[in-house]
Order: sequence, then C-alpha cells, then structure tokens
Amino acid sequence: MSDWTVSPAAGPLRGELRLPSDKSISHRAIMLGGLADGETVIEQPLLGEDTRATLKAMEALGAKGALEGNVLRVTGAGAELNRAPGTIDCGNAGTLMRLYAGLVCGRGVACTLDGDESLRRRPMRRISEPLKEMGARIEPQPDGTPPVRIEAVESLRRVEYVLPKASAQIKSAVLLAGLCADAGARVTEPLPCRDHTELMLPVFGAELKRDGAHIDVAPCKSLRAAHVEAPADISSAAFFLVAALLVPGSELLLKDVCVNPTRTGVLKILRAMGADIAEVNARRCGAEPVADLVVKHSPLQGVAIEAADVPAAIDELPVLFVAAAAAAGSTRVRGAAELRAKESDRLAAMAQLLAALGVKHAEHEDGIDIEGGPISGGAVASQGDHRIAMAGAVAALAASDKVRVADCANVATSFPGFVDHAAAAGWEVAAS
Ligand code: S3P
Repeated sequence: MSDWTVSPAAGPLRGELRLPSDKSISHRAIMLGGLADGETVIEQPLLGEDTRATLKAMEALGAKGALEGNVLRVTGAGAELNRAPGTIDCGNAGTLMRLYAGLVCGRGVACTLDGDESLRRRPMRRISEPLKEMGARIEPQPDGTPPVRIEAVESLRRVEYVLPKASAQIKSAVLLAGLCADAGARVTEPLPCRDHTELMLPVFGAELKRDGAHIDVAPCKSLRAAHVEAPADISSAAFFLVAALLVPGSELLLKDVCVNPTRTGVLKILRAMGADIAEVNARRCGAEPVADLVVKHSPLQGVAIEAADVPAAIDELPVLFVAAAAAAGSTRVRGAAELRAKESDRLAAMAQLLAALGVKHAEHEDGIDIEGGPISGGAVASQGDHRIAMAGAVAALAASDKVRVADCANVATSFPGFVDHAAAAGWEVAAS
C-alpha cells in the first residue's frame, strides 16, 4: 500500500522526459515473441507489473526471457509449446487475459486464466463468446468473470465477427485465434480502435489485410521471431500533458511518444480545449508512428466528447476529466460506458474524486458533465486503479491545497518510476 501527498504546483514544470514504453505494444511483442520460432529482440519494452505478468505467462508456455539493460530477448516456445501451463496469473492485466485466451485456445493448450481482485470483476464473455463460435472450449465463471477455464482444442474454424463494441482486446483475441483457424478470421469494427495487433502480426510473419472496417487474418500457426522497438506510451504521457497544461509557465518535451492515430484522441480533445501541443521529429518506430511532443501551459475551455471520440482516448479519459475540471466552462462526455468495465468503474471513481475536490459534476450512465472551476485540496481514493491515482496527482497541481491520494501501489502496473519522472519535471509527489 502506498499513499501520495501532492502539493499545488510551486512553479512551472519543465524538462525533457522519455516516459516508459507503450503497454499495449509491449504486451503484444512479448506474446508474439513468446510463441514464435527463434529469438525476438524487444528494445525498451515496458516492464511494469502487467507486462511482467505477460512474460511469465509466456514462460509458462515454454518461452524464455532474458533482460540485458533495455533489451528483452525472448526465445519463443515455437514447436516446443508447453500445452499444460496450469494456472496463469494475469494480475491486474485485462489485455493479458483477453489476448492470451485468443492466442492459446486453438493450440491444444489447457489452462486456467486468473487475476487479482480487480481483474476478477471484469467481463470475459466478450471474448469467450466469439472464441466459442470458432470452436474453442473456453468458459468463464457463470457470471462471466475470471477465472476462465480453457480446454485443449487443436484447431479452430473461421469466424466473421462483427465487434459489438470498439474494443481492441476483443478484436485482438479473435485475430490471434484466427491464426489457428482453418480459414483464418475476419473482424469488423464499429469504430477504429487501437490497431497494434494488426500492425505487429505481419512483423512476425502473419498475413493480414485491412479493407475499411474489415480486418482479415490468414491462418498461420507458426510465427517467426522479430525485432520490435517500443515507443513511449501516450497513455502515460497524457498525465504529463495535462500537468503541463495546467501549471502556468510549464513546457515539457516528451520524447519518442507513439502517435498511432488510433491512440491520439487525447491530443485531439486537448487541442479542441485550447492546448498548445506540437508534434516534432515525426518518424516511424518499426510499424508505429512516433513523435516528440512539446506541450506548453495553455488556458483550457470545456469541450463535448462524443461516443465517436471515445475509443481513441479510452484510457486517457480520467485525466481529461481533470483537464475539464480546470477548464473554463463545462465539459460533456457521453458514449463512454466502457469506462465502467476498466480496472475500476472509472466513471464512478472519477465522480468520487471530483466530488472530494469540490468540482461540480453530474455522473451519467454513459458519461459525465463537469463544470470547470476552482479545485480544492482533499483526500481521494485510487480505487486500486493506476490511472485514477495519477489523475489525482495531476488534479493536485491545480488545487488550492494538498491532495492525498490513497492506495497508489497499482501505478507500477503501467507506469513504473512515475514519482521519479514527475520529480524530474518539478512535480513533487511524496509517497508514504
Ligand atoms: C487495450 C485495449 C483497451 C484499453 C486497454 C489496453 C489493448 O481496452 O483500455 O488499456 O492493449 O488492447 P478495450 O479493448 O477493452 O477497450
């Protein structure tokens, strides 16, 4: 258990930071590398608790990981796949549980997928249903939550699956299972959501085509090892973007940030609020677009966030609510019911956080209305959710008094070293 006390900003935030690497890309590189034939080299992977759990999960299948400085070498299980890995502890990581299920369910693997208290509350029928349509034998608990039991099935059949929601985890589970299907798989997405699986599969030798909203993957049981470089995570950068925007005189340079358009909703929304954020030194990092972000303090205005804006900003909405609380005017968010199915119920958790800091707001079933205005000090709860904890630390910068954030240990799942990175920019987060 770790609590934070964060004081209102004493001065501008300044500096150049290379924040930890992208969680989604790191999970995928470790999973595909762990399955492939040969040695995959992953440069600068995120090694937070979530992706460490992924490495262990792949080691249970026979992969071997070796870390040398910033480079993770993963020797894939290949033909030596261990088909009886037992119970896989997915910790707090929904991405691990859902993608792993897709990855193994057509490979003759029998296992049980379990996780922590938060993950044990999260919905898993969203993946077990399409995977069963493909012939997988996969069963969550009767209420649809983990543990999820997978029985050995040697191969799957083709599915043409229309995603009921814009979820990259569901999309990826079906595409990964499609590698083991007699005629591959087609997934159709209602709105674009993060496409790291689609970008990475061809790097490991799979054949994949996109045609508008349709994604087709061809059968390809054996993957070949690859070289992957992980850029910085825009979901982690989002806390520093909003922090710099809120504190007068601030200017930060955030290096090597993944600016894949399926992830940059936070930039679009912040710019619509009046944020000065420049993308410089645009380049590619393997299959992913990357840039350095220069963010300068800016007065913000309230904004309307609609359902179509949500998938590309899903993990950044908690900190965007903090930006809204510090903005002039009101912000209206709708079509964001998915926030209730994350590491915590993020609509409820943020409503409680805003209430504790005296911010006027109204919670709705699928969103929230926030009235910008003064933010007071107070005590807030992370609800065991990393992104709520960091949103609380950002709110403190613009508050009139200290904010105490309870239970922040979970920040290590996605953002190891958060307190040190914040300190390097002049943002003091006192942990106790
Ligand atoms: C993720 C997809 C998103 C996101 C999660 C990571 C991924 O979840 O919220 O943090 O890596 O595929 P959904 O696909 O459930 O929206």
